[in-house]
Amino acid sequence: ADLDDYIVALPKAELHLHIEGTLEPELIFELAQRNKVSLPYDSVQSLRDAYAFTDLQSFLNLYYAGASVLITEQDFYDMTMAYLKRAHADGVCHTEIMFDPQTHTERGVAIETVFAGIAGAVRDMQRDTGLSSYLIMSFLRHLSEASAFETLEAALPLREAYDDVWVAIGLDSAEVGNPPEKFARVFQRCKDLGFRLVAHAGEEGPAQYVSDALDVLHVERIDHGVRSEEDPALMQRLIDEQIPLTVCPLSNLKLCVVDDMAEHNLARFLRQGVLVTINADDPAYFGGYVADNYRAVAKSLKLSRSELAQLADNSIVASFLPIGRKAALR
Ligand code: HPA
Ligand code: ZN
Repeated sequence: ADLDDYIVALPKAELHLHIEGTLEPELIFELAQRNKVSLPYDSVQSLRDAYAFTDLQSFLNLYYAGASVLITEQDFYDMTMAYLKRAHADGVCHTEIMFDPQTHTERGVAIETVFAGIAGAVRDMQRDTGLSSYLIMSFLRHLSEASAFETLEAALPLREAYDDVWVAIGLDSAEVGNPPEKFARVFQRCKDLGFRLVAHAGEEGPAQYVSDALDVLHVERIDHGVRSEEDPALMQRLIDEQIPLTVCPLSNLKLCVVDDMAEHNLARFLRQGVLVTINADDPAYFGGYVADNYRAVAKSLKLSRSELAQLADNSIVASFLPIGRKAALR
């Protein structure tokens, strides 16, 4: 309990969080009922029991099915507000939230509805508690480059209305076989438009995808990146250039990226001087929110309190906040 209090009290940012991955089974059922969407599960428990994953794709199938209950602006608001309250309880002072418009527009939900619901909750939470959030609009990499461009063009008319929160572009979904190169042109366009850039790389994909995310997509931060360890030159570059990695320990365990938390390379990365951070990824599916992730690695990797504090401080440093606000939070 003492360690729990220490972890919650650390000022920290959460930088790798998919808002659709915060939909708890209870809320999935509530929204299904509200919207008269039928689910192939007869109870909250039977849905939860299905959360036994063997790899990223086995999770993504359920994640997209779960998101199918999101229809109205209120649904997106309720989902986001539930996450923000949970993050606030964990001592998170800033979040950078990924969302996948294509998961919703493909089902006929307007992109305006998605932005309004998520940003509405983010703004209300900031007003009421001071917890700040930025939004990272992410492209689904299993879909085409053309679909990513269409999504960007559909979102751009909203940029001005959401310029207080929408600051970045990301890349997620099935990694292997969908390399960074596939999105080189759309990321170049986003860069030219002045967005901050991140991409998932080196979760299931090879270290080469991490190098290519840096060199071809020009991202500033890597989501996951745990397979970078397979390339010593890349590791040295991550250290030299202090390129942040947003690591998600419980996610890695649930998706069998690591077999045992005691073997997670997070501690080695940290001790070598890589700018690693701890995040929840999809907390409703992976068995824990951000403080649970800190707790899991503290225990399994025997991290000291000063190492936990370093990880929390890294999250502020690696955020897209202006330097003045970073300084105030550290
Ligand atoms: N990896 C790739 N795509 C995702 C993830 C992830 O961990 N979570 C949600 N979409
Ligand atoms: Zn992720």
